[in-house]
Amino acid sequence: TKVSQWNKGITVVIIYWTLQASDAELEAALEAALEAGYRHIDTAYVYENEAAIGRVLAKWLNSGKVKREELFIVTKLPPAGNHPDRVEKYLKRSLDNLGLDYVDLYLVHVPFGFLEKGEDIHPVESDGNILLDKSTNHINIWKAMEAQVDAGLAKSIGLSNFNISQIKRVLQSARIPPSNLQVELHAFFQQKELVDFCKEHNIIVCAYAPLGSRGTAKLYERAGISKDFPDLLNNPKVLEVAEKYGKTPAQILLRHIVQRGIAAIPKSTNPDRIQQNLQVRCNSSKYL
Ligand code: A2P
Repeated sequence: TKVSQWNKGITVVIIYWTLQASDAELEAALEAALEAGYRHIDTAYVYENEAAIGRVLAKWLNSGKVKREELFIVTKLPPAGNHPDRVEKYLKRSLDNLGLDYVDLYLVHVPFGFLEKGEDIHPVESDGNILLDKSTNHINIWKAMEAQVDAGLAKSIGLSNFNISQIKRVLQSARIPPSNLQVELHAFFQQKELVDFCKEHNIIVCAYAPLGSRGTAKLYERAGISKDFPDLLNNPKVLEVAEKYGKTPAQILLRHIVQRGIAAIPKSTNPDRIQQNLQVRCNSSKYL
């Protein structure tokens, strides 16, 4: 049922790193998104915004404006939780932050693990290097992920930022196969081989940064780091197609993803753009 929810196109999302939006901005954006009809909310322990999301959800759930089963809530295991003994602890923390009994989808956020150092989300050694856990074992982590489904804390489980060989390794020993893969994907990074692989294995793909990593481009700009991010929203071909169909460039980029049977989760704090990004309908899909 959850997959059909994605297919209905109610797939969009509000993700905000604290660096990108304050709690107040996030709460206002989430209100606007729920009003507009968004029901799929994507977050992660490391975004440090689960509690703000939880406050808005509590308001909507308590007032009866939305029912829990109408929502599709996704969060992710942080790299410091990439160890079988720590999966349950971090999921329970996320549930506590969100004020929920279960999430609809729990993802392993990244394939690499960090050593735990207190509560540090990005633990570093005294020399400033990140404390990587070189013993990270995907198969053992996945067993702990499966246990969360058994315990009813996650309705489904999946992966994020994993490549084909990493997914294959998990699939080979999985009792509950990953139902979702969330990766960066947009017109300039179409991930065709990875998407075909996922299709073969019934793994739904969800595209983050679907407008071409504009959020990351802005972060780099603000930090004064020069890096060349292609500007898909001003790409001449995208502008031409937008003109032809009377749509905005963002809608063309989102439709390009959705019509491949891929869910898309654009970020926005702007109520007009939040609305606009939902007005992307696609009835035909190669995959669905
Ligand atoms: P804003 O919050 O001001 O709308 P991505 O998910 O690919 O990283 O893109 C997120 C960025 O794209 C955000 O900075 C967001 O800014 C901007 N954005 C989101 N929707 C649109 C849109 N429809 N048109 C233009 N920019 C958009």
